[in-house]
Amino acid sequence: MNQKGGVGKSTITVNLAAVTADVLGGGSANSEDSKSTVAAVSIDPQGSAVWWADRLNTLPFYIVQAHDDLARLRKLGQLPGIDHVYVDTPGWIDLSNDGDSGDPLGRGEAAEALRSVLDVVDFVVVPMTTEPLSFDPTAQTIRRILEPRGLPYVVVINNWDPRDGTADLDQTKEFVQAKKWPLANTVIRRYKIHARASADGLTVTEYPANRVAMQAREDFYKLALELQVGGGR
Ligand SMILES: Nc1ncnc2c1ncn2[C@@H]1O[C@H](COP(=O)(O)OP(=O)(O)OP(=O)(O)O)[C@@H](O)[C@H]1O
Ligand SMILES: [Mg+2]
Repeated sequence: MNQKGGVGKSTITVNLAAVTADVLGGGSANSEDSKSTVAAVSIDPQGSAVWWADRLNTLPFYIVQAHDDLARLRKLGQLPGIDHVYVDTPGWIDLSNDGDSGDPLGRGEAAEALRSVLDVVDFVVVPMTTEPLSFDPTAQTIRRILEPRGLPYVVVINNWDPRDGTADLDQTKEFVQAKKWPLANTVIRRYKIHARASADGLTVTEYPANRVAMQAREDFYKLALELQVGGGR
């Protein structure tokens, strides 16, 4: 979750689901013989998970668009046969929206969906980038939404390009540390293959076995390890 757009919420959701399915959740979403135990759920009405919709039948985990399915969202922890659920949230968040006159963008519904998820979620991943423009929205997300609910969370720095040097990265880490927010050790680096893959509907587990693609995918396995072993779960 982060109310800043484009910080990697959808990318991280789908790829955490993919690496979890790869290691723990075996099977396929649609084969009767071995069912996947992993689901990626989008509550972004503008359909971030739609980018994966073409692949519903071939991904090794379930992809569910559920912004309008409050009954299911309230039971996310009890989906039959599912052990791991990752939820993708919209890039704008106004939890106070109750759906006023006309509500043409369906934002009241989206706020209701988000409130339902926040009621049942175990842990929140807050991606941010090393751009100063992402600092303030990240602070608002944490202060207004996560802290009042006492939700455990970790900030993950995404989209850092090692070729830019460490100055921006260090500045971002200092900002997070000064706020005393929990910060993941894993930094998800910027690789062109991630942007290409999301356009093609591929997950990191499907990257070709060349060195750069392996480095790119390693970050998501590291993050998954950190969340399961060290994330206070
Ligand atoms: N580590 C990365 N390396 C390269 N490209 C990335 C990386 N993370 C995200 N991107 C790209 O940046 C763009 C935005 O990422 P993404 O859609 O995951 O963000 P988001 O937070 O879900 O955005 P929104 O708020 O609009 O839903 C996408 O094109 C994605 O492929
Ligand atoms: Mg998104």
